[in-house]
Amino acid sequence: MDKYCVMGNPVEHSKSPWIHARFAQLTGQDMEYGKRLVATNTFASTVRAFRAEGGKGCNITVPFKFEAAPLATTLTARAELAGAVNTLRFDGDDVFADNTDGIGLVADLTRNAGIKLARVDVLLIGAGGAAAGVLGPLIEARPRSIVVANRTQAKAGVLIERHAELAAMHNVRLAAPELHEVRDGFEVVINATASSLAGEAVPVSPEVLMRGTLACDLMYGPAAQGFMDWASQHGAIARDGLGMLVEQAAEAFAVWRGVRPPSAQVLAELRAALA
Ligand code: ATR
Repeated sequence: MDKYCVMGNPVEHSKSPWIHARFAQLTGQDMEYGKRLVATNTFASTVRAFRAEGGKGCNITVPFKFEAAPLATTLTARAELAGAVNTLRFDGDDVFADNTDGIGLVADLTRNAGIKLARVDVLLIGAGGAAAGVLGPLIEARPRSIVVANRTQAKAGVLIERHAELAAMHNVRLAAPELHEVRDGFEVVINATASSLAGEAVPVSPEVLMRGTLACDLMYGPAAQGFMDWASQHGAIARDGLGMLVEQAAEAFAVWRGVRPPSAQVLAELRAALA
């Protein structure tokens, strides 16, 4: 039976084994998916050991997404632009590396939340690893503009610079103003900061939210609650990152198995199981 796993630290509470087991069941794929706790400085050797056991691929989560690219013999353009990898596929001696986080987010927003990204104004809060992982695919969804706002403005500047060529290709305006300068209303606001996790206030003015704005945190559970409450209190439609989690998993599943699982159904089941 083909073996897959998620590698990270911590990994105990990962929902990925549940999601992939359900995908496999619903698509009739004969595979197993486990989890591996990876100790600091042992990422490359853990991947090697898993391959030696016949592992066919893995997902990579915190804090190892930045360590996987050097292991790749093929790195997708979007993983290279993100500077991070969340999916590895082992084909004999070859290691194919991808990042499905951004397309997972876009799939969740457009298919599950049913919003339009084309020709709207998007605010991306944050400029760390999570923001870098989603900016490329957001650009490819062709909004009118994306404003990247971060506590440390210089990091937002570097991030948009790295994406300037892609944005020009898709005719998307990118900007990285100081946080206090961000006051316009946006149709879509995405929180890619750890501010909710830290229990701190959302670092932008609520003026960015209009009635009907879709405000999505990339996290879910208690880590997303602060942002979601803030969004709802100011008239926006709040969404957590559970849909992105399922959709990035669906994209990884397709990379491995060549089959698209019924992700909307599995998202509904996961929400019900967590309720
Ligand atoms: P991740 O991989 O989750 O993105 P990261 O790369 O450490 O983690 O990035 C964390 C992001 O959350 C950054 O944008 C960070 O802002 P800085 O670049 O200024 O550090 C942001 N962040 C973390 N805590 C924050 C807080 N209390 N208020 C505002 N932004 C915060």
